[in-house]
Amino acid sequence: MTPISVKVPFVDLNWQHLPIQIEINRAISEVIQRGDFILGEALAQFEASFARACGVSYGVGVASGTDAIALGLQACGIGAGDEVLIPANTFIATVIGAIQAGATPVLVDCEQNTALIDLEAAAKAITPKTKAIVPVHLYGQMVAPQKLLDFAAIYKLLIFEDAAQAHLARRDGYFAGSVGLAAGFSFYPSKNLGAFGSGGIVVTNDETVARRVRSLRNYGATHKYFHTERGTNSRLDTLQAAILNIKLPYLSGWNLERNQAAYHYDRYLQSLELQDTLPIENRSGTGHVYHLYVIQLSKLLANKREKIQQQLAERGIQTSIHYPIPCHLQPGYRYLGYQKGDFPRAEKLSQQILSLPMYPGITKEQIEWVSQQLSLVAANLTVACSDTLTSE
Ligand SMILES: Cc1ncc(COP(=O)(O)O)c(C=O)c1O
Repeated sequence: MTPISVKVPFVDLNWQHLPIQIEINRAISEVIQRGDFILGEALAQFEASFARACGVSYGVGVASGTDAIALGLQACGIGAGDEVLIPANTFIATVIGAIQAGATPVLVDCEQNTALIDLEAAAKAITPKTKAIVPVHLYGQMVAPQKLLDFAAIYKLLIFEDAAQAHLARRDGYFAGSVGLAAGFSFYPSKNLGAFGSGGIVVTNDETVARRVRSLRNYGATHKYFHTERGTNSRLDTLQAAILNIKLPYLSGWNLERNQAAYHYDRYLQSLELQDTLPIENRSGTGHVYHLYVIQLSKLLANKREKIQQQLAERGIQTSIHYPIPCHLQPGYRYLGYQKGDFPRAEKLSQQILSLPMYPGITKEQIEWVSQQLSLVAANLTVACSDTLTSE
């Protein structure tokens, strides 16, 4: 039976952290005792373990997912004068990463149903300056690996995956992070694998790329006080790595929880009267790691999105939007020269999507409650809307 009211936060990290707090405290104490806060033992251990989990040879911890993209692209040889293909409907950090690497981001539209980069649109944006594509494994679903590899082979581009939302995601036998020359992950606290602060990693099978990121993140030094290139200070803290070492073995289980939660959402939402409102399509089965569970509202409901969010919040349900403004319409990036109408599918998505609560530990009852309340709120707003129409 459904309870009268169930509070459902958008994300709840306590479910993950409380059962392993003693282990985490111990790992933190060990770092304090060793005093190796910068480039310490736990970092080397985490880099090796995370790379292995992704099925690649090298991992280099950096200060954030944004830096993972910036330094990773740089280490792959991307820089000034190079154009990099990026989906318009990503978190702005993908664009920032390319700009920080010195390259020019070239935005392209996405597919309407999966919200993933549209490779046909990407092909049309290629110029002689195009050197790379940064597919974003958005919401936890990988861009189809073989299609990406074929695309990169035809146009002679390198692939740098933005896997910030896709820790251990799989598709067609590939792990996120193992498709391209290199990939960047974020350990922002609410990510599928989150630190207790900022963090990121570049993973790659290429030893030269790994070595270069190691140097770039550490003042461009190959060894102490010997700076072979213009680097920066962007290392993953040993303390964060120690915490991530404890969390990593639980990641597959947490992803499975997310997958099951998505399965319940799919089922409940399907059985409700939510005309034309559909989840973003999952084409990777259980390989989708559902960093986010996103639905596309019908056009009618999309006009009422703010009201829907507000009424759900009144019922204890937090929702969010990823992302309400596509990159090409962000005021700070007007100089890139894009306009409204340039990427119609990304724009449509930004107006119609809604992210529902999703985290490992969310219960079936909570999901049922969210789905029911969404359906009720939607039905009320639809009636209100048609009343207004008939009275006009
Ligand atoms: C798709 C995507 N790319 C890049 C980033 C940047 O990661 P960070 O916040 O760790 O810099 C994020 C994280 O928010 C993201 O979701």
